[in-house]
Amino acid sequence: MELNLEKQIISDIVAGVSPKKICKTRGVSRSALYRLKKKMKKEGNQAAVKEKVIRIDDPILRSDALKFISRKKKGFLISDLAKKLNVSMEDASKIVQHLSHHDGYNLVQKGNQWCLISELPPTKPLNLNVLLGDIHSFGVISDTHLCNKYARLDALEAAYDFYAKEGITSVFHAGNIIDGQFKYNMYELEAHGVHDQALYVAEHYPQRKGITTYFITGTCHEGWYQDREGIKIGWYIQKVCEDHGRSDMVHIGHVQQDILLKQKLGNTRIRLMHPGGGTPYALSYPSQKMVESFQGGDKPHVLIMGHYHKFDYNYQREVLCIMPGCLEDQTVFMRKNKLAAHVGFCKVSLGLRVDGTIGRSAVEFFPFYDAKYHRKLNEFELSE
Ligand SMILES: [Fe+2]
Repeated sequence: MELNLEKQIISDIVAGVSPKKICKTRGVSRSALYRLKKKMKKEGNQAAVKEKVIRIDDPILRSDALKFISRKKKGFLISDLAKKLNVSMEDASKIVQHLSHHDGYNLVQKGNQWCLISELPPTKPLNLNVLLGDIHSFGVISDTHLCNKYARLDALEAAYDFYAKEGITSVFHAGNIIDGQFKYNMYELEAHGVHDQALYVAEHYPQRKGITTYFITGTCHEGWYQDREGIKIGWYIQKVCEDHGRSDMVHIGHVQQDILLKQKLGNTRIRLMHPGGGTPYALSYPSQKMVESFQGGDKPHVLIMGHYHKFDYNYQREVLCIMPGCLEDQTVFMRKNKLAAHVGFCKVSLGLRVDGTIGRSAVEFFPFYDAKYHRKLNEFELSE
């Protein structure tokens, strides 16, 4: 078909002239008209594709991509996503990168397949250099449950005031930094959703000059986001903190991570854990069973366990076991299940031998009563 004729027919189609009339006036067959319409559609689609890729961060586009990705439990190809979203392969790839590196979705590539999964790859232990022969002191806290109205921000601030005064530079947080979101805690939350809860940490978690908080994430609470939506929640909290100029919040692992204090002839191994399971009647039982389960050669020198919201410390199989309590008052769920909250924080001091073994240790616990009690106490102190 001649180019001029083609243009005339296209203008007829756009003007809404009937096919019968076009064929009669322009002298073309119905099949030629059909082929031209098909060509127009294809070119139109390509133009639409080009227009669509203008904004990779378009929330509707990302939401459509996520709907597709979430359904593909066994993985998907970039070409499938491109087809589904009607975008180019290059832009589909950019959307996947954006979801992974900006929104925190745990999208993993295996060959040419991509998959959204909740399991994170193992991370390397954190290496910290400490002065040989010194007494090394660090802060130990757990279960701050930020965003829940029962969280004890007053006690948390007091902990960091104390750490700063003592010249402590490292605080180890044994998990449940935020409360996460699930049907059980909906009406106790002060911030909802992944981004707002991460933002809450950036804005409310205490920051003191020279102190770095190394935190792990658990499978419950913040871990709900990871299990349910496949979001690398620890990574995301750290990223939002960094975006707000905070480099003092460092995520070091999920469920468990080792911290190595480097000595001349070996390392002191501190294991930070956020295990699962309910609270037993005997407070020492969780750490006792945990230490019992460690294989020979895999035992740490110090075991710090969050999750139980209890304070306890003991020494078993040459492991100093510490449960640092929590920084959240008893919630409705805990009351219903007759679970006590040991609110407070710890300072741990270790004297290390040249090979990394512990020659001296002290665990201090700073207890707090419920929020009402401390409010009254503050009022009394202020009026004095
Ligand atoms: Fe907890």
